[in-house]
Amino acid sequence: MRYLRWLGKLVLIVVVLAILGMAFAYWRSNQLLAQRIQVDEPALAIPTDATAIARGEHLAVTRGCTDCHDSDFGGKVLVESFPVGRIAGPNLTRGRGGMGEPDPIKLERAIRHGVGTDGHLLIYMPATDFAGLSDADTADLMAYIASRPPVDRVMAPPLAGPLIRVLFLLGKAPLAYGLHVDPHAAHVATVEAAPTVEYGRYLAQGCTGCHRADFSGGHVPGTPPSFADAANITTDPVRGIGKWSKADFYNALRHGKKPDGKDVDAFMPWRALGTMSDTEIDALWAYLRTLPAGKR
Ligand code: HEC
Ligand code: HEC
Repeated sequence: MRYLRWLGKLVLIVVVLAILGMAFAYWRSNQLLAQRIQVDEPALAIPTDATAIARGEHLAVTRGCTDCHDSDFGGKVLVESFPVGRIAGPNLTRGRGGMGEPDPIKLERAIRHGVGTDGHLLIYMPATDFAGLSDADTADLMAYIASRPPVDRVMAPPLAGPLIRVLFLLGKAPLAYGLHVDPHAAHVATVEAAPTVEYGRYLAQGCTGCHRADFSGGHVPGTPPSFADAANITTDPVRGIGKWSKADFYNALRHGKKPDGKDVDAFMPWRALGTMSDTEIDALWAYLRTLPAGKR
């Protein structure tokens, strides 16, 4: 009996500590998320010509925008589960529940800075992958978004649950990507599309959110443990893709197949990346060949 009473007390202490821990996690994360990031960049004009819109569509697919905002840009729920929260890309069209008339400042701030017009931090919007986009590419993306027909879809707002908040405080989940973007970094006007290391470096910024800044891969921050680790895509001959040929690289991106015939895990967005032009894939390959062997 005495043993049971002690056990009861122990359980009570653990529960109280867990509640206090959660209260702290909510208080501290709310405090960090309440920060405002001031950006004073002039608005980019939204082009209306067919070439810009077509280029914008290509970017929206290959940069992964449609994975989260849906192919009609009407919004999509990716994850809705208790400890994680609700990861949902909002409706960016003019329809009911959407963003209204396209506002160039609002669009640019969200895409390249991960913040709202008033500087508030967006959550789950991976602006670190897009912060380096050129003015021309950003404008073309805006052109495509502005050209989308209205979609009536009222989305519940994204929410950060307790697990994501704890990971955020531990530095294991970025959550508010705007905190990791330099708000005053200069942007290039255009980037020349050619099969060069330079263009490959530019395109590969879209891979770092999963493959990490040094391309040596590992578990993608903030994803459930069941998700496949991103591969090491550096020149390491054993851990990386140092022994791959350019044809192997093409095969992985266009057909989702590894050199040993195995399928590339579906978490790797090869279907979207496979729609990249030969120039883009050649440029990525040229750049990845220059990477030192990553240790992970
Ligand atoms: C991992 C999922 C994800 C990807 C990929 C993504 N977004 Fe988002 N995006 C979000 C979420 C979630 C929000 C809402 C953030 C919030 O309200 O705090 C958002 C917000 C936005 C907003 C602001 C909406 C508003 O009402 O203020 C724009 C504009 C936007 N995204 C454009 C894009 C574009 C363009 C791309 C591709 C270059 C892109 N997003 C890629 C998840 C994503
Ligand atoms: C949403 C996350 C995500 C993004 C973005 C992403 N990858 Fe991946 N990638 C993965 C994952 C996860 C794997 C591991 C798949 C597996 O184990 O089958 C992978 C595997 C690969 C492989 C196969 C490597 C091997 O050894 O099997 C290549 C090549 C690759 N990625 C290239 C790229 C390039 C280039 C980009 C950017 C243009 C990119 N990835 C963007 C998640 C991503």
